[in-house]
Order: sequence, then structure tokens, then C-alpha cells
Amino acid sequence: MTQHLLEPLTLRELTVRNRLWVPPMCQYSVAAQDGVATPWHLMHYGSFARGGAGAVILEATAVVPQGRISPQDLGLWDDAQRDALRPITELVHSLGAAAGIQLAHAGRKASTEPEWGTARPGASLAEADGGWRTVGPSASAYAGLAAPEALDEAGIDAVVDAFVAAAGRAVEAGIDLIEIHGAHGYLIHEFLSPLSNLRSDSYGGELAGRARLLLRIVDAVRDEIPSGMPLLVRLSASEWVDGGFDLGEATQVVSWLREHGVDMVDVSSGGNAEGAAIPVGPGYQTSLAAHLRHRTDMPVSAVGMIDEPFQAEHVLATGQADVVRVGRAFLRDPSWGLHAALALRGDGDIVPPQYRRAYRQQLRRS
Ligand code: FNR
Repeated sequence: MTQHLLEPLTLRELTVRNRLWVPPMCQYSVAAQDGVATPWHLMHYGSFARGGAGAVILEATAVVPQGRISPQDLGLWDDAQRDALRPITELVHSLGAAAGIQLAHAGRKASTEPEWGTARPGASLAEADGGWRTVGPSASAYAGLAAPEALDEAGIDAVVDAFVAAAGRAVEAGIDLIEIHGAHGYLIHEFLSPLSNLRSDSYGGELAGRARLLLRIVDAVRDEIPSGMPLLVRLSASEWVDGGFDLGEATQVVSWLREHGVDMVDVSSGGNAEGAAIPVGPGYQTSLAAHLRHRTDMPVSAVGMIDEPFQAEHVLATGQADVVRVGRAFLRDPSWGLHAALALRGDGDIVPPQYRRAYRQQLRRS
């Protein structure tokens, strides 16, 4: 029986050893608020590559200081940040995996207290406490957070330029694929959504206007990075509320992304509407991925509570996605990929030789 999860995948000139990827997950572990990766990041990302992931996507990395979710986020607006990523990409490569990075601007959800280590996780961080004035498509606030300033045209141009500069640095740091964060209520998603984009200029109104910022960033980044390097976009394909950016609009956007040279869309959901009724449960976003894959022919990755090897295999075997991303399950068990490979076909090839003695019994039994 073919094991789809363990099959390689080629996008442009990049071949990834399998279809089990780790999605971006913020660590809020930058020490000096300078966006520079630390030994934690080296250990953290290296452990997933050692643990059998095909590609490891580095967490949401801000393209400008104002675009950080919190002061503890990674950044890629200067060369010191680029240089600190090199050991990570080298380690990931040495372990046989590909290294991706998610480039991000948090928009109106920036300048918040990090998820851990502070008194009010997720609350707006006042300027007096090291926070900053946020920006968005319009001056409308996300529930409970400080109101942003609406970006003017010069501000939008600067955001596009910042994504390009960060992508260039990512390439210099040895990154193999770039993902643009267009999900979870951050800046690009805020522009896409009629709930947060109240503009009346060419960046608002109909879907073509709301998608203009995303498509400008895609075009500019595509021009910046090597033609053989894959470019991915993560979208929230549903906001799970009436009147929000929905699967119908997402289908149109994905078709445009395909025409603009995007190689894969990662299909997530939510993040822009307070009180959304999200049907959280095993594989709860997979049907969104399947819909987009079938309607647009765009390769997609599915994510969201895909926690078991045979569940992941089923998603691929039934043609719902081209890649499965496993997040929290990899945090709980950084060897998740090795265990999946053993469960699916008793194959120990992916086990690093240094660790094979620990797996002898399982390999004999298979
Ligand atoms: C996340 N998630 C996330 N998403 C994203 O696009 N960029 C990010 O930087 C982060 N950060 C982050 C941190 C942590 C600690 C968690 C748990 C999650 C969402 C993540 O990529 C993924 O989509 C969800 O966790 C759902 O997948 P799992 O965990 O159910 O496999």
C-alpha cells in the first residue's frame, strides 16, 4: 500500500522528502525585543527536522517592527536577524528537511502582550510599556484591542517593500520556501475581510480591491525570490461568521493566487471575528482545504487537529490535500514524524542513525 504521507513532493525546484510539514508556531522567545532568533529556536526547529518532518516552517516573522504580534516575535527587517537564521536553516538541512518561513505583519492585532510570561496575555501593550501604534486597513479595532491607524497609500507601499526586503533576507539565510501570512486576522487578512476593511479606495470595496494588497505582495515577493523557490500563502478560508470573508471569496482569491505564481495555499480559518462559532474538532479545517483544491487545482496543505498518523494519511489518500501540517502534536512529541513513519510502514529510514538503537524493537516487529 502506498503511504502518501511519506511520499516526496516537488514544488518548482524544491523536492521535500515527505508530506508531513510543521506549521508556523510563534515561540515568543526573543530576548532583547530585537527580533533575533535564539538557541531556543535552533533547538526547537531542529527537533522537528530530526523528528521526521518534511518541511519545517518558521513562525510568523515580522517584516517591520510595527508588524510584530508582541515584542518577543522574530523579525527579518535587519541583517542581524538574517544572520541568526542561518544556523537554523543549516541544521534543518543537515537533518534532511526543508526550511520555510512565514513572513507576517500583524496589523491591528500587533503590539500585544505575548502568550506567556506576562500578566495579560494577548492584551494590547501600551506605548509606555514598550508597545506601539498599530495599523490596519481602517481605523476599526479588533475586539478589546487598541484601535489602529488606517494605512495610507504610502504606508501600503512601505508594507509591500518590507515583505520584499524580508523575503530577500530569508533567501540569503538559506530558507527554501516562503509563506506569506494571509490568515488569522493579521494585516493581509484584515484587508481581505469586509468585516475589517471599510476602505472606499482601490484597496477596499469589492473582493478585487480587498485582495489587492495580498496580490501586490505576492507579485513583488515572487519577483524577488529565485524562480525555482516555492511561494506559499496561508489563508483563513472562513471567518465562521455571517458577512465575513468566506469560502466562496477564498475560492476566488486562490484562483487569483494561482495566476500570480503561488505554488501552494495552506488552508486555515478564523482569527478576525470575535465570537465566531468555530467547529473545533479533529480535522475541522480539512473540508475547506479539499474544497479549494478541487475548485481551483491549487495544491493545498490541510491543518488543524490532524493528530494521528492514519488520520493524516487518510486526508492525503482521499485527495483532500497535498500536504498535511501537524502543529501541536509535534510540540507534544517532537518525534511525531518518526513515530508516524513507523506506524504507517515500519520504515526506519527516517530515524537518524544516532538514534536507531532506540528503535530496534519496533523495526524488528514491523
Ligand atoms: C500557532 N499558530 C500559528 N499560525 C500561524 O499562521 N503563524 C504562527 O506564528 C502561529 N503561531 C502559533 C503558535 C502556537 C504555540 C500554536 C499552538 C499555534 C497556528 C498553527 O500554525 C496551527 O495552524 C494550529 O495550531 C492548528 O494546527 P494543530 O496544532 O491543530 O496541528
